[in-house]
Amino acid sequence: MVHADEIAKLCYERFRQLPRRGKPEPGREWTLLAAVVQLTRRAPSDSVEKQVVSLGTGTKCIGQTAMSPTGGVLNDSHAEVIARRGCLRYLTQELHRAVIGGHSSVFCPAGQRKWSLRPGVSFLFFTSHTPCGDAAIIPMSDSRSKPRPPRTPVKSHGGTEGRGDRKRGAEEPGGGNHSKRPRLEEQEVKDQEVEDQDVEDQDVEDQEVEDQEVEAGGDVEQSLLSDSLKSDDPSPPGPDVHRTGAKCVPGGPADARRPGAGYHSTGALRLKPGRGEPTRSLSCSDKLARWGVLGFQGALLSHYLQGALYFSSVVVGRCASSQEAMQRALVSRCSRVADLPPGFSVRPPELLRSSLEFPFSQVQTELQHQGGRGRISPCGAAISWCNVAERPLDVTANGHKHGATKKTLGTAAARSLLCKLELFHSFLSLVAATDPGALPDSLR
Ligand SMILES: *[C@@H]1O[C@H](CO)[C@@H](O)[C@H](O)[C@H]1NC(C)=O
Ligand SMILES: *[C@@H]1O[C@H](CO)[C@@H](O)[C@H](O)[C@H]1NC(C)=O
Ligand SMILES: [Zn+2]
Repeated sequence: MVHADEIAKLCYERFRQLPRRGKPEPGREWTLLAAVVQLTRRAPSDSVEKQVVSLGTGTKCIGQTAMSPTGGVLNDSHAEVIARRGCLRYLTQELHRAVIGGHSSVFCPAGQRKWSLRPGVSFLFFTSHTPCGDAAIIPMSDSRSKPRPPRTPVKSHGGTEGRGDRKRGAEEPGGGNHSKRPRLEEQEVKDQEVEDQDVEDQDVEDQEVEDQEVEAGGDVEQSLLSDSLKSDDPSPPGPDVHRTGAKCVPGGPADARRPGAGYHSTGALRLKPGRGEPTRSLSCSDKLARWGVLGFQGALLSHYLQGALYFSSVVVGRCASSQEAMQRALVSRCSRVADLPPGFSVRPPELLRSSLEFPFSQVQTELQHQGGRGRISPCGAAISWCNVAERPLDVTANGHKHGATKKTLGTAAARSLLCKLELFHSFLSLVAATDPGALPDSLR
């Protein structure tokens, strides 16, 4: 039995223990948190050991032109994606231990030179927030999408500051003129300055993250959180849904853009929302749905594994969310997938909710915001921490290692250990460490 609050607490505590670098500035910047938790059931007592093996923060996603064809840049730095990639580093380390005959707490031999999870080992996914994309299309009638004001003590002047100065955008197309209607992300474009994109001469240690923030590409959209916090909102005139700035993938079903609840198509694949240049990365709802079918281990590690790895549960921290939208986005829209190869099956996670809110959420940051401290903004950095012996911390901004300079761009010094290229290098090291006679057939 998994207790959602216990999981949330564990993840928030793990975050708290990390060094300051890349963390949001309290009361001014917010971020999103996600984590992978390893559960190990111990046979005699049946006790379950819970351990955060990977943690990620981040709200950004680079635009199309910033992408690297050589895999040296992180395309997508949303917390969910960072957490899953850190988990790949952890799994690679554990496989490495296993193939050299050492002890791995995760893997045991499965025959045919492949590996499987040790009996009693499983993984769950934690996210502090509703994943962007389909899961964020929340029915407004869903009372659970209107969280009570947080129980955590906040400074007395809090509450309205920070929200009061939020500009309401122009009417969205086809969206009617209800004044409390949640804003589309694109509407923020005009009151958002595109910041200096220069990353030159940045001192690794002293430079504040905000200086590196580039408003290109997809900023996660979280405005529904603050809208839904207003419990004095009049009820909408008819059924309606929270709007997402995550656009439908071209060529697939498009949004109907009818007023009210018919504005969005539900269940569609969507690109990451954001201001600035469009992104090409899929929303986190879509990626989580994919991991529920193809597993989260990725194509490379699949060579070594007897079957795909699935998250047993997805735990969501206290936030505006809807069980119905989560169920649709992560579970039901994949339920008819069939004819999967051996080792794969549709294994949607159990969906759980915690009542504990991430202290650096957008809502908490707005409650703690003090006038004169500058505009509230999403933190531009992404932090990865994972349970590996070498270089467990990896802090990035704009898909590059935090503090990368123009001089180092394109070199290993500017690369995140989570980028496609570095993950491939670590996979090659795993292959090199494997006795040739013990290589899985697909790698011979
Ligand atoms: C990131 O984008 C580049 C350019 O489109 C692409 O080649 C690369 O495969 C992408 N990386 C991932 C992990 O999808
Ligand atoms: C705007 O709202 C008013 C009343 O609040 C309504 O009479 C009018 O038809 C609405 N306009 C549109 C375009 O929905
Ligand atoms: Zn996301």
